[in-house]
Amino acid sequence: MSRMIVEVNHVDKTFHSDWGRVEALRDIAFGCSKSEFISILGPSGCGKTTLLRIIAGLEDPDSGEVIFQGKVIRGPGLERAVVFQEPRLFPWLSVKENISFGLSGKKSKNEIDKIVEETLDLVGLTAFLKAYPYELSGGMAQRVAIARAFAFEPEALLLDEPFSALDAQTRLRLQEELLDIWRKTEKTIILVTHDIEEAIILSQRIFIMSPSPGTVKEILDVPLPYPRDRESPEFIRLRKYIFDRILIKT
Ligand SMILES: Nc1ncnc2c1ncn2[C@@H]1O[C@H](COP(=O)(O)OP(=O)(O)OP(=O)(O)O)[C@@H](O)[C@H]1O
Ligand SMILES: [Mg+2]
Repeated sequence: MSRMIVEVNHVDKTFHSDWGRVEALRDIAFGCSKSEFISILGPSGCGKTTLLRIIAGLEDPDSGEVIFQGKVIRGPGLERAVVFQEPRLFPWLSVKENISFGLSGKKSKNEIDKIVEETLDLVGLTAFLKAYPYELSGGMAQRVAIARAFAFEPEALLLDEPFSALDAQTRLRLQEELLDIWRKTEKTIILVTHDIEEAIILSQRIFIMSPSPGTVKEILDVPLPYPRDRESPEFIRLRKYIFDRILIKT
């Protein structure tokens, strides 16, 4: 039995449209161990979302496969929760109902109440249990989406630029909250981001992708202790190195 929770084995994906074909992913191969925090960085169009959607089971690879906990992924599953760039809450449901939506029928009312309470506590929104999405700010709605992802008690969290639409201050706070949640729950996290600092602050390994065709160009270990200091010389050196690597077209 592999100690890897996610194994991506030689995944290829090409999209065909009226205007031509795009090789979104070519021969992507890596493993992710349980409780690991990985970030995927790379320029727009290099296949980050496509890769995440394939791991989520929302998209099929043309060839290759993704194995999750020893089984080939055939579609979406509750053990792999996805948070998209925008919160995607149901506007007609309260915060509590949004979080518990997928749980009714699977858990008792008492269990659901407990899960909602715990996950809202994780993201610091206990007071907003009865609020509706229109009563929340963008950052709060995104935190509800993250709470909902945790409510399913997934083994892995797949996050596609979850903070990119937020203001800098909220983004920094949510990065801290996510780090806290990860350290408390020891879930496996794969985060797609455009933000080099975000990747260094949060993750143990950083995958740098390059476009046309989408490939993983480099995998970096981040050997810095948590919590990370954005001003430390090691941090700044790593940030510059990654910045240069993303710009170089090889
Ligand atoms: N459903 C689709 N049909 C056709 N082409 C697609 C589809 N989804 C993605 N692509 C193409 O595949 C390539 C990779 O797209 P993808 O969304 O994975 O990039 P990305 O790295 O997430 O970019 P961004 O940082 O802008 O979100 C792009 O060239 C895009 O045009
Ligand atoms: Mg994307």
